[in-house]
Amino acid sequence: MAKFPVEPFKIKAVEPIRQTSRAEREQVLRQANYNLFAVPAQDIYIDLMTDSGTSAMSDHQWAGMMMGDESYAGCRNFFNLQEAIRSITGFQYFVPTHQGRAAENVLFTCTVQPGQSVPSNMHFDTTQANIIARGGKPVNLVAEEGLDPVSHAPFKGDIDLGKLEAYIQQVGAENIPLGMLTVTNNSGGGQPVSMANIRATGNLLHQHGIPFFLDACRYAENAYFIKLRESGYADKSILEIAREMFSYADGCTMSAKKDALVNIGGFLAMNDELLYERACQQLILREGFPTYGGLAGRDLEAVARGLWEGLDEQYLAYRIGHTKYLADRLLEEGIPLLEPAGGHAVYLDARRFLPHIPQAELPGQALSCALYVEGGIRGVEIGSVMFAYEDPDSGEMLYPALELVRLAIPRRVYTQAHLDYVVESCQRIYARRQELRGLRYTYAPALLRHFTARFAPL
Ligand code: F0G
Repeated sequence: MAKFPVEPFKIKAVEPIRQTSRAEREQVLRQANYNLFAVPAQDIYIDLMTDSGTSAMSDHQWAGMMMGDESYAGCRNFFNLQEAIRSITGFQYFVPTHQGRAAENVLFTCTVQPGQSVPSNMHFDTTQANIIARGGKPVNLVAEEGLDPVSHAPFKGDIDLGKLEAYIQQVGAENIPLGMLTVTNNSGGGQPVSMANIRATGNLLHQHGIPFFLDACRYAENAYFIKLRESGYADKSILEIAREMFSYADGCTMSAKKDALVNIGGFLAMNDELLYERACQQLILREGFPTYGGLAGRDLEAVARGLWEGLDEQYLAYRIGHTKYLADRLLEEGIPLLEPAGGHAVYLDARRFLPHIPQAELPGQALSCALYVEGGIRGVEIGSVMFAYEDPDSGEMLYPALELVRLAIPRRVYTQAHLDYVVESCQRIYARRQELRGLRYTYAPALLRHFTARFAPL
């Protein structure tokens, strides 16, 4: 029987959520043209669309918000954040940004020339889009196990080092301004990257003179997996593990909306002073003066405090256990998932859930709509709606290997009863899965289709 981890906190403020009737939800979904991005949040009961910016902040963070120093230059909260970032990452320089993709924009504007490539285990979609926006080429080289939905390899986020070496030989180090690793690998099921793989990636890139950056938004969850699963780390603190992870890299991009437990914020950190000076120029142009980035002083304080809270081992045991609980309960009911559970989300496997719906009829989207109608639950399709594309040469539709529905878990927000409710809703859908039908597009924009596409049931 799956076990729910005991929470290392109690609840001080509550936010009401509203159960609607099935008839209301059917009506809302029709009005939203079967796209959950178009459903108002007040009509959602359990919102598992993202773990980003959805954390419950602590009393310590809220207290810090009142200590916001809103001076344009040199506010005290900047120095508190600097102290946290330097102590945790060891990187000498940083600029605050309003969120992760702004850090990506600054980094790639300073480093990527048209035609150059940026290899990674797997880029997140905003990272990929920001590289493409600079004329660069994002390249995903995750190891084979990372693409197998049922492999229980401990570190399915690892990059394939053989492929990385071959890729560097193929295009030449001079055409690779930096290499990256996303920890944990969000686009690949929230799977962790091992310390051995981070170290080896750093060594390989550095042998070729290529800088190495981490996409670090879930670095603390990754560090906790290393402690649990990698030999030699069981007795190390999360802070020691995090410091070692960062020690192999030259810098990182960070969306603080994840492991720093805030609703908005991010940063770009690095050791290279010249890069820092160029980043400051970009920052002033796009985000703000380098001691506040795109944030208020109070937001900087919440990030500084959240960074430390996100490293707390009791919190991480709860956090990773919380996600695992949902996965284990679903597996007990025979519901097909991407295994094992990732750090921040559980991914339903819509291809195995709805084998009678072909990819052209969007099984992931059909399953997300069913979850909403059944329980007022919002997940996000990560399948053909997000990734299928028409081959420019043959005109043929190319479908992704995986059709997933991500149930991302906001940090410190939902209780065991909420998760049990999600499981019961999934169970009811699973029991009558044969009745589910696919969808067709009534509108599909060319770029980032999933946000604004419209559908009709078949
Ligand atoms: N990198 C990764 C791995 C991410 O998961 C995200 C955001 C970003 C970068 C960009 O950060 O949103 O602060 O600009 N992921 C969210 C999600 C949106 O739902 O997975 P941002």
